[in-house]
Amino acid sequence: MSRSILFVAGEGLPFIKTGGLADVIGSLPKALAKRGHDVRVALPLYKKVIEDHYDELTRLGTIQVHSGWIDQPATYYSAVVDGVTYYFVEHQGYFEREGLYGYEDDGERFAFFQRAVLDMIYFIDWWPNIINSNDWQTGMIPLLTHACYGDDYRYQNIKHVYTIHNLAFQGNFGVDMLPTCLGLDYYYFDNGSIKFDSGISFMKAGIVYADKVTTVSPTYSQEILTQTYGEKMDTVLRYRQEDLWGIVNGIDVEEWNPATDKLLAKNYTVKNYVSGKKANKLALQEELGLKVTNDVCLIGLVSRLTNQKGIYLITEKLQEILGMDVEFVVLGTGEKAAEDAFKWMENSYKGKAVYYCGYNENLAHRIYAGCDLFLMPSLYEPCGIGQLIAMRYGTLPLVRETGGLKDTVQPYNQYTGEGNGFSFWAANSHDMVYTIRYAVEQFYENKQGWKGLVKNAMNTDVSWEKSASIYEELYYQLCDWPD
Ligand code: ADP
Ligand code: GLC
Repeated sequence: MSRSILFVAGEGLPFIKTGGLADVIGSLPKALAKRGHDVRVALPLYKKVIEDHYDELTRLGTIQVHSGWIDQPATYYSAVVDGVTYYFVEHQGYFEREGLYGYEDDGERFAFFQRAVLDMIYFIDWWPNIINSNDWQTGMIPLLTHACYGDDYRYQNIKHVYTIHNLAFQGNFGVDMLPTCLGLDYYYFDNGSIKFDSGISFMKAGIVYADKVTTVSPTYSQEILTQTYGEKMDTVLRYRQEDLWGIVNGIDVEEWNPATDKLLAKNYTVKNYVSGKKANKLALQEELGLKVTNDVCLIGLVSRLTNQKGIYLITEKLQEILGMDVEFVVLGTGEKAAEDAFKWMENSYKGKAVYYCGYNENLAHRIYAGCDLFLMPSLYEPCGIGQLIAMRYGTLPLVRETGGLKDTVQPYNQYTGEGNGFSFWAANSHDMVYTIRYAVEQFYENKQGWKGLVKNAMNTDVSWEKSASIYEELYYQLCDWPD
């Protein structure tokens, strides 16, 4: 029996992406829609969405949104993609900017967004069974629904799921946000429910007030209960432990498919990957100015360059890594220290290492297809999308055993031939280099074993099939099992 589900998020494909959250919002709703549910998504209408997609949008209308002292118009747009309806909240001042987040007035912007989404439900007269909010940008939705729409039973019938994609980004703001932007009483600070340090936290509000809390892998759901990974939210998470589910992400296997991907030099499947990956490797080397040869182990990295991603384990050991018989391609932007280190690398190892400083979707596809190894030594990783795409393209992930990396990458066992990648546990660069050395050795010395690993990786189920059914089970638990 079908359910109606509204996903609310700060970003989502195919419209706007800065990270893995957008991958999830672009694929999980589609997977649930295929299972027969009425699934819709609400996003802010950013400048880039207007530039790239304006012609695809239908204007629905404008209403005035009141939230505390905010009294501003919201204009709604919609578009249907792959059976999923996307809604957009337009407000020129708040959202038509170069970036998505990281502004002084983020609290006000996303307070407005969340109230505008809740008002939209009444405006379009579509009442979802479930609202699945995501990350800090939408963490206030369960509380706002109860506190500001309490006299309408249609709002009160909605069940709330709150999904944590990254606990480190919490949306913590000053306490005066309560009356000014959210239209809420200081009571919610005084009773401690959304108090965080001396202010309030959107993330904490989501954790406290949602009916169920999910995060994006089983291991991360356990890690965040500890002080080490808990980002000062571990106490409140332990309090919600019984309602906390860890559901691993999938990827859109139609979008990410080496057999049909138009951006590749040659398409391939698990049956002909040897010639397919070779063609892609040679084309990538040519494109990036690396020495063109199939005989070298080509390592790739596609990532935000931040501490989370273990980038400094790599920059610390660039000389050791490039002392091996490898080529290295890095795609990403982020912290200046990391960017500078990779620029140094490119200058010092011409023809052997290359750094593309920027965000480039098309190049990312070609790196996933053309490389042999994919480096992802994250210090913490709620799920990780990069390693899933890499496996789908037959590029073996080399990861640290944390969060979703631990749940999705099975390290090579040379005695049984099992595994779909390589992994190490301790968060230090020595262990990482040791594992890279081991993997590179397998590439050159154990060709049969390597082939087996590539096949295992390509045969790994990275689709949403299984996980979408777990979300479905969660929704059924909340709003009655089907008859
Ligand atoms: P996170 O969301 O924490 O950054 P994920 O692994 O979940 O990490 O998702 C990152 C997504 O962003 C992947 O789809 C990856 O391919 C993509 N990505 C990261 N950096 C870049 C870049 N510089 N250019 C293109 N795609 C990128
Ligand atoms: C966050 C996490 C990443 C996860 C993504 C999608 O960006 O850092 O691990 O894959 O969200 O859930």
